[in-house]
Amino acid sequence: MAGPLALPPLVSITAGSGNLGVVPLNPREIAPGAFLLSRYMTLAAQRLLVDECRTLMDGEVPAYVPVVRGGGSMHVRMLCLGRHWNGKLYRYEPTRSDFDDRPVLPLPNHFRALGRACAASAGMSLDPDLCIINYYDASGRMGLHQDKDETARSIAAGLPVVSISLGDTARFLFGGMKRRDPVESMALESGDVFVFGGPARLRYHGVSRVVPATSPAELALSGRLNLTFRQYDL
Ligand code: SIN
Ligand code: MN
Repeated sequence: MAGPLALPPLVSITAGSGNLGVVPLNPREIAPGAFLLSRYMTLAAQRLLVDECRTLMDGEVPAYVPVVRGGGSMHVRMLCLGRHWNGKLYRYEPTRSDFDDRPVLPLPNHFRALGRACAASAGMSLDPDLCIINYYDASGRMGLHQDKDETARSIAAGLPVVSISLGDTARFLFGGMKRRDPVESMALESGDVFVFGGPARLRYHGVSRVVPATSPAELALSGRLNLTFRQYDL
């Protein structure tokens, strides 16, 4: 097994033959309850995660472009692990009833541990039971929205959403509790982790664009992958 990727590793998780070491860097508080962990993941760990996401997204239960409630298609390819998010009904379910009725893939233990470790680095606790992987190509984006399909208890407890960015830089929009509140535009770069919980849990957010050709060459990734870890219930 590979040794630690950087010092001091907060957590050492194996994925395939590699080691998903993550390093705690200074969390920057963007707003109460919202933290940016810049370059949190080492390049080696990013590579492992990118490879794993690619394999999953092109595997037996593949990623797809969800059609949402209003009838429009999302501008990402999505794959859920642990629980499936149904984009037509805005709720979680065990099978992909809005697409192909297949059972959702399980959340691997090391994904769960990674989500937990990221939250802990921002001073929050989370025991995720689901992860949504989104792939953004050069025209990928996501409109302003709140993440509010987890249980009322989970949201009220302020359990955070942990977001890991890989590949091309995203222009990430982080707003307030109302859609019309002012938004801050932030660059989320490869390896960055953004955690929003507590009083920030229901803040509006979205991705206005990805910046092409900004991905580290070592990832051999054109476009952007984003993983969000959530805990459905307490
Ligand atoms: C999301 O809001 O679910 C994804 C955000 C991102 O891609 O950074
Ligand atoms: Mn979201």
